[in-house]
Amino acid sequence: GKVGVLYGGISAERSVSLQSGQGVYEALKSKGVDAHLFDTGERSLADLAEQKFDRVFIALHGRFGEDGCTQGVLELLGIPYTGPGVMASSIAMDKIMTKRILLEKNLPTPRYYVARSEEDLHMAEEQLGLPMIVKPPHEGSTLGLKKVNVSQEISEAFELSKTYESELLAEQCIIGRELTVPVMGKGADAHALPIIEIIAPDGNYDFNNKYIANDTVYECPAKLSPELTAKIQEYCVQAYNAIGAEGWSRIDVMLDKNNQPWILEINTSPGMTSHSLVPMSAKANGMSYADLCVYLVETAST
Ligand code: DAL
Ligand code: MG
Repeated sequence: GKVGVLYGGISAERSVSLQSGQGVYEALKSKGVDAHLFDTGERSLADLAEQKFDRVFIALHGRFGEDGCTQGVLELLGIPYTGPGVMASSIAMDKIMTKRILLEKNLPTPRYYVARSEEDLHMAEEQLGLPMIVKPPHEGSTLGLKKVNVSQEISEAFELSKTYESELLAEQCIIGRELTVPVMGKGADAHALPIIEIIAPDGNYDFNNKYIANDTVYECPAKLSPELTAKIQEYCVQAYNAIGAEGWSRIDVMLDKNNQPWILEINTSPGMTSHSLVPMSAKANGMSYADLCVYLVETAST
């Protein structure tokens, strides 16, 4: 059938999505799939309905694409789509809501404080200690994020983060190793792929080190004991199921100096750029980028 690759969109991660979509489109084409690129930032909903796609690959990131809105439109149109449904998508797009659910399930996530003003961020400092991370709760790709090492940096963090949204998430900064874990499947069949460790220059895995520079080092599978690997993967599957995710997601985790894992967030439309991590992990499991794309399309659902 006809497969639409939704990409672009209007979120702050538009440029990343253009790369993800292009990659997915070319991979599906290479496998003989009748794939079509569709930029939701430039074309209308009526146009989307007219395309009569049999299935859709959602390669959108951020608001309106990853947050349940597009998923809801596809539900209404009755078109199967890749990745989690409306509810899981909207929960995961909100890092504060995600934390509430993780905590309810006794899954470890760093302590946090919700701030609306610079004054609130000073309260956050008192409660969480420094360093702390300040970020807009509905963005991805590290946009608007700042690590606050000393009180004097609070003002700068506030100014940066509030250009994205008015309610900010301040989070205890976990010092340690940065990991990410793809999870695929649904319910009892949900399973984790090999863990990736991200070793960024100066521990700074920001937008530049994610997509542009080539000096971030990735270890896959991450060098962890089999016991610790299993424990982290189990936490990630539990987090995935806690929000009701299906299809695929990628879960970002920090491992502290005592080897305690802390779940940061769940990405329900993970990047598929040439620098992205789910393809790297799938490859370590013997699945190529193109096979991954085909698999996700085949398992798409409403
Ligand atoms: N938000 C980016 C696309 C990711 O998580 O891969
Ligand atoms: Mg993210």
